[in-house]
Amino acid sequence: MKQHKLGQSDLMISPLTIGCWSFGGDQDSYWGRQDQDDVNQLVQTALDQGINFFDTAFGYNDGRSEESLGQALAGRRHKAVICNKIPIQSQDELRQYDQTISASLGRLQTDYVDLMMIHWPTKDKALLQANLEAMQKQKEKGTIRHIGVSNFARQTLNIAHDMGIEIIADEFAYNLMSRGIEQDVLPYCRDQKIGVLAYMPLMQGILAGKYKQIDDIPPVRRRTIHFDQSHNPLVRHGGSGFEAQLVPMLEQLHGLAAESGYSEACLAIAWLISKAGVRSVIAGCRDVRQLQDNAVSVETKLSPELTARLDEISEPLRQEMGGNLDIWQLGDNSRIW
Ligand SMILES: NC(=O)c1ccc[n+]([C@@H]2O[C@H](COP(=O)([O-])OP(=O)(O)OC[C@H]3O[C@@H](n4cnc5c(N)ncnc54)[C@H](OP(=O)(O)O)[C@@H]3O)[C@@H](O)[C@H]2O)c1
Repeated sequence: MKQHKLGQSDLMISPLTIGCWSFGGDQDSYWGRQDQDDVNQLVQTALDQGINFFDTAFGYNDGRSEESLGQALAGRRHKAVICNKIPIQSQDELRQYDQTISASLGRLQTDYVDLMMIHWPTKDKALLQANLEAMQKQKEKGTIRHIGVSNFARQTLNIAHDMGIEIIADEFAYNLMSRGIEQDVLPYCRDQKIGVLAYMPLMQGILAGKYKQIDDIPPVRRRTIHFDQSHNPLVRHGGSGFEAQLVPMLEQLHGLAAESGYSEACLAIAWLISKAGVRSVIAGCRDVRQLQDNAVSVETKLSPELTARLDEISEPLRQEMGGNLDIWQLGDNSRIW
């Protein structure tokens, strides 16, 4: 797979990123059990095809995702570009930052991480600045090669900018069902040459056409603001959802797939990668078959007519959802600013 530069850095990445949230999972984890043999096979297949970008986080299965990725990369670390995400550290925790980073590198079996992000911003500006400063120090030490952010909108990106910290990438939820980023964040990132990494491209399988109706979607994958709070005890956003616009959109996506000969998952991913500023699509691939499918999808060039049709069928939902950026929380509870 052809690789390209991320942001203004020298990192060469594939347009498909392997989302590692499921790695190291057991039967009680969000994604259920994921065997190490399957992870090894997935990582090996990805690297063989030039898919070199892996996205993990401290929080994924309490560090077991990092461990699992580290094991799968043993002996071939140099072929991979690793993105890791650290939660905001409290002032107390910041005193142990060296140890925290070094423990993470230990789990990943590496001396450095190519790209480290703050996973979610805090509304406490001073604490956010202190976290960015701690990352900058690690960059100077060489344990972090580049700094990125995740779920940062314009104001938080500006805080880093004003501190003189170079942010090379912003990881953000972006898919046919969640287009809030298009209003402000995507144009801003394009202007600033910050590479956008689009996560949840398939909306956890919903855009892959797996579910015939809304009720078939497992409740855990129905916790976002798209779905009515009153139908799902796991939902915490308090809203009534956007199902009136979502259901017709999913039906039309199904129709477009039948008409065009592309699968729904392929349409969803190829549409995303066609958007200027999106440098890579982070997809959770549970097995080699899904990896192969998604690899084909990022390299699929849709006709301008088909791309326009996808814009069009998702437009009513986009308009109704407005500029909502946090797909799990509404209004003042939004964590993104
Ligand atoms: N920065 C953040 O805050 C943040 C938040 C969420 C996610 N992420 C990152 O983004 C990655 C991707 O997000 P995600 O895993 O939540 O959502 P996703 O990529 O939209 O969905 C992944 C799921 O879609 C299904 N799938 C994948 N490829 C498929 C294909 N070709 N055909 C049919 N179904 C397919 C699989 O579901 P089944 O298991 O049902 O087969 C898979 O588990 C994560 O692993 C993580 O690295 C980041």
